[in-house]
Amino acid sequence: MKVTVVGAGNVGATCANVIAQKELVNEVILVDIKEGTAEGKSLDIWQTSGINNYDTRVKGVTNDYTSTANSEVVVITSGLPRKPGMSRDDLISTNAEIVKSVTENVIKHSPDTILIVVSNPLDVMTYCAYINSKLPSTKVMGMAGILDTARYRAFLADALNCSPKDIQAMLLGGHGDTMVPLPRYTTVSGIPVTELIDNSKLNAIVDRTKKGGGELVALMGTSAWYAPGAAAAQMVESIVKDQKRIFPVCAWLNGEYGQKEIYLGVPVVLGKNGIEKIIELKLNNDEMKLLNDSAKAVKEVMDVLDKLNK
Ligand code: LAC
Repeated sequence: MKVTVVGAGNVGATCANVIAQKELVNEVILVDIKEGTAEGKSLDIWQTSGINNYDTRVKGVTNDYTSTANSEVVVITSGLPRKPGMSRDDLISTNAEIVKSVTENVIKHSPDTILIVVSNPLDVMTYCAYINSKLPSTKVMGMAGILDTARYRAFLADALNCSPKDIQAMLLGGHGDTMVPLPRYTTVSGIPVTELIDNSKLNAIVDRTKKGGGELVALMGTSAWYAPGAAAAQMVESIVKDQKRIFPVCAWLNGEYGQKEIYLGVPVVLGKNGIEKIIELKLNNDEMKLLNDSAKAVKEVMDVLDKLNK
């Protein structure tokens, strides 16, 4: 089984590294446009195989999509990352061009693949890959919710002094400051989180989660990679092992949650066919309003993309 990761920047290389370390497939192809980058990073990753005890072959190529032929899953990480002061939406015109051309190249050689988009602005770049791939919407999705809930779970684990493994959480909406973490659907080993932490602390954590990506951009001068790369690899795992895990994933909605023709984060079942089911939660009025606000923000950027004709 083969998985391709396009973009050998920090996120793509981390994703390839996690896929290899977990031996999710036999072969990972890492593609980049910059001569030598994917080859170098792949060689470096492959040289950890004897230390980390795995057999997954990691191969890097410069813009050679023939090597990606018949990939089960393709992760698209290409595009510019954010700089301090930038919103994810500021990246749209540059990254739309890149995601469009990458998608076309990928589909030429893997017409039945499943696409996982990581490039920003996430929801709209997933839409861009969807329209250019012409794949069914169940096979084109974006990675954001696993990352955003992972941040939320990490902050909660610190605040509660417990293991992040015991925290289950759900989150809806776009991958931006309007995302909607759901305290009502957050538990710690089955215990509602609201019984373990007071409201003001929980609200502060929700707020920090929404700005979690920006916090890292401000610290490092560029956007994050360890958690984004690992989150994309977790989606790959659920698909290639047909685990049918339930994750928040950026998915195409056609009526669910009262939203039509929009890519938005919602809980889905992820298996060998891609998005096998969208789960509709019974939201209260406050949660529904937050989701509608988030959808509105995403739709505005989707409209910009439509006008760019990309
Ligand atoms: C982040 C980027 C990957 O949230 O969107 O860190």
